[in-house]
Amino acid sequence: MHDTGLFVVTVASEKGGVGKTTIATNLAVYLKALFEELPVTIISFDNHFSVDNMFTIGSHHGRSVSAVFGATAIDQLVQLGEYGVQFMVSERQMHPPDDDVKHLSRVLARGALTGILIIDTRPILDYFTRNALLAADLVLAPVKDRPSLVNAGALQQALVDGGNDAERLWLVPSLIDGRTKLKEDVGIRDFILCSAVERGFQVVDTFIAKSPKVESLSTSFSSRIYPILTHARGTAVHKQMQELSQFVRRRYEATGKAGDKPLARILSAIEDQPPGRAGHLAADCPVCKNRVTGQDGYFYQELRHHKTGFVHSSCLDQTLNAVELQMLFPDRGGLLFYLAETGLTCEEGAVSLHLYDDEGEVIAVENIAVDESARLMHLFRMATGLEPGEMFREMILVALSPEAPLTFLDSDGANGFSRLRRLILEDLRENETL
Ligand SMILES: Nc1ncnc2c1ncn2[C@@H]1O[C@H](COP(=O)(O)OP(=O)(O)O)[C@@H](O)[C@H]1O
Ligand SMILES: [Mg+2]
Repeated sequence: MHDTGLFVVTVASEKGGVGKTTIATNLAVYLKALFEELPVTIISFDNHFSVDNMFTIGSHHGRSVSAVFGATAIDQLVQLGEYGVQFMVSERQMHPPDDDVKHLSRVLARGALTGILIIDTRPILDYFTRNALLAADLVLAPVKDRPSLVNAGALQQALVDGGNDAERLWLVPSLIDGRTKLKEDVGIRDFILCSAVERGFQVVDTFIAKSPKVESLSTSFSSRIYPILTHARGTAVHKQMQELSQFVRRRYEATGKAGDKPLARILSAIEDQPPGRAGHLAADCPVCKNRVTGQDGYFYQELRHHKTGFVHSSCLDQTLNAVELQMLFPDRGGLLFYLAETGLTCEEGAVSLHLYDDEGEVIAVENIAVDESARLMHLFRMATGLEPGEMFREMILVALSPEAPLTFLDSDGANGFSRLRRLILEDLRENETL
């Protein structure tokens, strides 16, 4: 029913040293970390061994990347590496098996690889780079200066010549040194942006800064290359890589190749969880951290990780301060807090509130402006135990009911909650409201 085809990201530039390999390898790690359920594979047509140095687990004997052009299906050739990323062993010298620049496209169409495939290429428009360009759904071209910008024209031409869509090419300002100014207040990034737009190139909405820390990851004497995610989290590049990954993910979803939406999968996974499972019940209110006792409070469940607890009604009021949704609260029903975008790059995320009656019918939906969501982010942080950067499509369902919180689960509250949750999830799935 759904097209769950592979989404191919080729990182290319005829210029060496623009950050291709750094971007390709780290993109694989970030995509996998941000979108756990997404299969991510990386291969390199270059003759250095950066991919091997980052992803090899122990000593391995996998077949090299040349085999991609052979008879075995590609999904049989990849092996699981570090950080959950699949890869293939690099090759010291690759020989073109023919002169068909669409060879790889055909191989990939035939194989059963799914998710995202990242291809790192050599700084030369040879057979392999052309194959990678023509198989690409998205081409990322790191650009650090005028020559590399001008060169993007050659990539565009190669796409057009081979019958691929030139709109798939996106420039990524890379190795940007914020201190260097071309004129008084024109930085390199501004210059690249202006010149790129003048030439009709698309530029991603982020960039990769030049960072000594990032440089040291691949230039130390150790044969292992460590990812920015694990070894350079304190750098600006960490955030920028997250932004770039979000960009790639959006392009992936825009093609329709993402197929079955992860949301649908998340919803199915949480549907059968019992409310108030022993050991998962937090005794303290997630807003004020004080114990919830007596009559005042609501039961809630944090749906993705199945943490449950109680929140004071006054604390809920305070969290909803800017919204005035309380006026519409039914006697019985539910209030769903949904964090759509992870707010990876800022402290706040995009949050929406969905108020339901007892039959799971929507009473109201409110979207909260990013700059007003600080209190909501606090709630998400406390209820999920996650930092904003780790959050992805989080949901908290608060049961609105007249029962006193501590008798809620013993009374019919738990059954009522399960029923309401099922109705709400069905509604969300059918209407793709989220
Ligand atoms: N963001 C960055 N900050 C500082 N140095 C970087 C950054 N990205 C890459 N480098 C360094 O620049 C050099 C070239 O990077 P690399 O990713 O190998 O480029 P390419 O694959 O285009 O040749 C390497 O020494 C690498 O460590
Ligand atoms: Mg390289």
